[in-house]
Amino acid sequence: MSKILVSEKRNYFVKTVAEAKEISTNYLSQEDIKDVEFGLPEIDDRYDIWRVPLLSVNKAVLGYIIIEAKTGDIDKKKTTKKEVIYARLSFNSQKEGKKKGNKKIKYPISPLSNMILKGDSREILDTLPSESVDLIFTSPPYYNARTEYSDYATYDEYLEVIRQVIRKSARVLVEGRFFVMNVSPVLIPRASRSEASKRIAVPFDMHRLFIEEGFEFMDDIIWQKPEGAGWASGRGRRFSADRNPLQYKPVPITENILVYRKKSDKLIDWFIRKHPNQDLIQDSKVGDDYEKTNIWYISPARDKRHRAIFPKELAKKVIQYYSFKNDVVLDPFGGIGTTGKAAADLERRFVLIEKEEEYIDATVNDLQQLYFDIFDDIEIKR
Ligand SMILES: C[S@@+](CC[C@H](N)C(=O)[O-])C[C@H]1O[C@@H](n2cnc3c(N)ncnc32)[C@H](O)[C@@H]1O
Repeated sequence: MSKILVSEKRNYFVKTVAEAKEISTNYLSQEDIKDVEFGLPEIDDRYDIWRVPLLSVNKAVLGYIIIEAKTGDIDKKKTTKKEVIYARLSFNSQKEGKKKGNKKIKYPISPLSNMILKGDSREILDTLPSESVDLIFTSPPYYNARTEYSDYATYDEYLEVIRQVIRKSARVLVEGRFFVMNVSPVLIPRASRSEASKRIAVPFDMHRLFIEEGFEFMDDIIWQKPEGAGWASGRGRRFSADRNPLQYKPVPITENILVYRKKSDKLIDWFIRKHPNQDLIQDSKVGDDYEKTNIWYISPARDKRHRAIFPKELAKKVIQYYSFKNDVVLDPFGGIGTTGKAAADLERRFVLIEKEEEYIDATVNDLQQLYFDIFDDIEIKR
């Protein structure tokens, strides 16, 4: 009512919703624009215009026809271009198609058994079926800037290797499921007295890779270690002695746990509601004693067979929070198999990939000793 009053008060040429729609209908046929519907036309009396929304059949807004209220002419500059309307129409119908398809999508239950695979992840991942793993938890190899110790010529080359592994892992990960990475900045000790030590913010670069490879950022969890854990790095000693501002360097006692989700139209809820075995969903529920914040306090682990392992306690938390029982958990940088052992403890399946024979040996040995009930069914490929 009030809208009509405005048009009358202002003595507009186009007075009613019906007139605005009629002008718009003529414009659409003139421009040969099909498959669109009108939303409710509205007056904007600041600009003396009628704004007529154009909708798809699913009511998505495709654009607007703008009519000069005083003359009834179309403002072609402000009216959404035909190409834009069609581009949005096609995008919307693709989205709808996907949504409708989802209803029929079978719940992905992986056919994989427990596996230990020796080789370079960039090759081995290509041998796994697509969307056959439900969670990825890993910690990538450490980037060592000292060329004499490093497997990589440059930091960029290192990032490119990790990118390949993220990309190939993404193919085997079920859409909508999680990729969790444990990583931390790297300390580059000074090469001589005249140089300063440096830190490379590896987690920030990993974040870029994940986003570029089609993941959605979910969470940044901090793994906090006891204070003593960082002093070995040597960082902060100078400041501790001299206390000069600008020389301040905190002792690093944290690592990052980056949580990403492979992009999907499916809601997380879908994975819970549609699981064909609801008993498993019940059995997978997390007890009261869970991490309530994004700071997890866990002591580091040591093993003389490998210098860069993460604690099983960390792997168990990640696996508990981001997978269901019987799911398949992949670690493309398997080391001595911590992820696999944690997965087995929690009745999940595991796929471990590791390029070094000695770490494969250690993994096989541990599983044979401590996980003999499942050991015979593990597929080991060297
Ligand atoms: C940080 S360690 C992982 C340790 C593991 N989280 C554990 O607790 O045992 C990274 C591992 O990745 C392995 N690695 C490095 N590059 C690889 C590649 N391209 N393919 C497979 N494994 C690789 C290294 O040999 C190393 O054991």
